[in-house]
Amino acid sequence: MCRVTQLRTRSVVWSSQPSGGFLKSASFSLANKGQPDHYSNRVTTFDRICSSTTDFFNGCVHINSGIVNRALFLASEGGNQSGVAVAGVGTGKVGRIVYRALTTKLIPTSTFLDAAKASYDACSELVFAQVVTVPDCEQVRLAFAAVGLLTAEEVAAVTQAAPASLGTLQFTAEQSTTGGIVYGGRCRGCHGATLLGGLGPPLTGPLFRNKWYDGSVGALYDFVKTRMPKVSPGSLTPTEYLHLVAFIVKENGATPGSEPMPENSQALNEMGFRQPATDTEQTTQAK
Ligand code: HEC
Repeated sequence: MCRVTQLRTRSVVWSSQPSGGFLKSASFSLANKGQPDHYSNRVTTFDRICSSTTDFFNGCVHINSGIVNRALFLASEGGNQSGVAVAGVGTGKVGRIVYRALTTKLIPTSTFLDAAKASYDACSELVFAQVVTVPDCEQVRLAFAAVGLLTAEEVAAVTQAAPASLGTLQFTAEQSTTGGIVYGGRCRGCHGATLLGGLGPPLTGPLFRNKWYDGSVGALYDFVKTRMPKVSPGSLTPTEYLHLVAFIVKENGATPGSEPMPENSQALNEMGFRQPATDTEQTTQAK
């Protein structure tokens, strides 16, 4: 089978769930040939799964294509991802939308966000031609939001909404204050002063909270400790990482208490941080 056919078969088969067997830090192989299904998991040429293939030379478009594949699968067939429920509108409509986005809006330098916006705009234009309905376009927008592609306005609208009340949790005000100082020095450049994101994804909002609080905060602690700061992972002290987590949960609406946070991901997991986003927030984000 020629390479192009292989790639095409791969993305058709995997559009529904492209993330199977996907470890960024490992070489591309038969066992590790998956693709990201969320923008926050996109690969760069610094990731081994990309740099170990000739796709390296095109920035690994055939790996990151999983993100848009997944969004369009959700738009067509419906499904749930990152706390966003999408009602599918069918492949017929999605095909028309994508064709219009590709032929009238997207250019070689378009970004992922441009693709999300172009699809939504193309859909809105097709309402006038009576190919789709306004509610269909809401589902298209939700499908892109589910893979992490929200416009800056959408992200701002989400985070302006009152954060979910997480009640009193086990961490102190001092811990989150120290964490805030570390954040300002080591994380703000990529994740933004108000955690709304920039080079890195937002660290606030219902999509973020759904993703990490559902798996509970121990997973967040482990992730940050082993993977951040992106340029020099693991370069902070364990206490600094812990305080960063205290800062992030406080910025996401948790109230500090009198007991310090335990420096142990299992204990963190048992502390009952689970707090899925409320319906109200998801509605705000859909707007
Ligand atoms: C050079 C830019 C950069 C810096 C500095 C950086 N990050 Fe990140 N961060 C990223 C990128 C890019 C991602 C997306 C996942 C990946 O590529 O590993 C990310 C992902 C994350 C995530 C997961 C977000 C999600 O939605 O899953 C968390 C949490 C996080 N970073 C926390 C931090 C903390 C805390 C610091 C400071 C110690 C930090 N980051 C510093 C770029 C950065």
